[in-house]
Amino acid sequence: MWRGSLVPAVVLLLCALAPLQHAAAAAAATCAGVAPARRRPEVISIKDFGGVGDGRAVNTRAFRAAVYTIQHRRRRGGTELRVPAGRWLTGGFNLSSHMTLFLDRGAVLVATRDARRWPLVDPLPSYGRGREMPGPRYASFIGGDGLRDVVITGDKGVIDGQGEVWWNMWRRRTLQHTRPNLIEFMHSTGIHISNIILKNSPFWNIHPVYCENVVVTNMMILAPHDSPNTDGVDPDSSTNVCIEDSYISTGDDAVAIKSGWDEYGIAYGRPSSGITIRRVRSSSPFSGIAIGSEASGGVRDVLIQDCSVFDSGYGIHIKTTTGRGGYIRNVTVDGVRLTRVRSGVRIAGDAGDHPDGRFSSLAVPTVDGVRIRNVWGVGVREPGSLEGIRNSPFTRICLDNVKLFGGGSGGGGAAWRCRDVQGAALGVHPWPCAELAASAVAAAGSCVY
Ligand SMILES: *[C@@H]1O[C@H](CO)[C@@H](O)[C@H](O)[C@H]1NC(C)=O
Ligand SMILES: *[C@@H]1O[C@H](CO)[C@@H](O)[C@H](O)[C@H]1NC(C)=O
Repeated sequence: MWRGSLVPAVVLLLCALAPLQHAAAAAAATCAGVAPARRRPEVISIKDFGGVGDGRAVNTRAFRAAVYTIQHRRRRGGTELRVPAGRWLTGGFNLSSHMTLFLDRGAVLVATRDARRWPLVDPLPSYGRGREMPGPRYASFIGGDGLRDVVITGDKGVIDGQGEVWWNMWRRRTLQHTRPNLIEFMHSTGIHISNIILKNSPFWNIHPVYCENVVVTNMMILAPHDSPNTDGVDPDSSTNVCIEDSYISTGDDAVAIKSGWDEYGIAYGRPSSGITIRRVRSSSPFSGIAIGSEASGGVRDVLIQDCSVFDSGYGIHIKTTTGRGGYIRNVTVDGVRLTRVRSGVRIAGDAGDHPDGRFSSLAVPTVDGVRIRNVWGVGVREPGSLEGIRNSPFTRICLDNVKLFGGGSGGGGAAWRCRDVQGAALGVHPWPCAELAASAVAAAGSCVY
């Protein structure tokens, strides 16, 4: 199709410039500095603690001893615990402040499959019970409570949760307690997770809860699409969390912003705020980017930018229900590409289960100020639904330049479903429902409130 030599020359020139432009854009828009991956003045190896990376020896003691040493040596500037190439089978362990866990290329941290080796910990106060089962829950594989300045990074090293045994217990309904997360930090600040691969988490992959200044960048998070509840990253009652430049393909929501569950989350009252999700590519049978459904402490000031969601259930999914209380507000979604998703955008006021019968039907959540713009979708089976709560409509919901196209064969006729919602719509395909279209006039062609 290209004739003459000018076109290839121009293409070559553009290709040559593209990396520069990309680098400039990346430099302008990244929050990696929120929690930097510091260099540590001291490096120790798991081998120094008797660790054996043969895939058979259980290294729990070695890891716990190494962390204990780092914690008590209190080296100025912190210490790096290096894990060389090999398969390092181990039970779970906690990290300490001012440390880096560094997984070399070819290093695989392998979680033990023996459930008896997993300690139990108290349920989170904002959940009142384990998320799946009442009572305590299994401690996460890698954990930390009350830490500061922690880095988990490497050269494409792997953390393998061997979740299959846990998924099977869930499928056979033989779970005794709520499954462990792969990585969880509580009450911690300055957490940086980058450059490694997470595989087959028993439950959620990365769960910062009651944390501040958390960065997740350049990560690959993988679990089969049929693995139950293997959410990618779930910022929960946390502030300043930034998830960037990552690839997530799991069995549940790729990213889900949360803040506690019904009456327990309301009582604990700690919101998630200042959450940025940027340049994340994801695929899962549920949501690409989700907020909720546990959002009882409130979720606000969320920016979702330049993401892509493919082969998934929902592209963008905001979910809550009566009994949750709390609020979801000031959410900006700008620049999302959807490919082969069941439903493009869903904002739902009737989604999610309850911890027990003690939730209040008066605890009605509010959803206010959601701007969704520059969304382009192909192979989108239905555009979606915006369904608020009777007597508590979702307000200032704005769709601007949202173009969703069907799969082609027969699916072209699907329409938006709306009720108990108000807001504005501009440049939306297919034609938005009357609730938004009518108020578009009032909004005078603008999504700025
Ligand atoms: C990790 O920390 C949590 C919270 O402090 C604690 O309950 C748990 O027992 C610790 N796990 C290990 C293996 O020390
Ligand atoms: C809304 O959230 C953005 C972050 O996405 C923040 O910069 C802005 O200050 C927030 N606006 C208000 C009114 O709080």
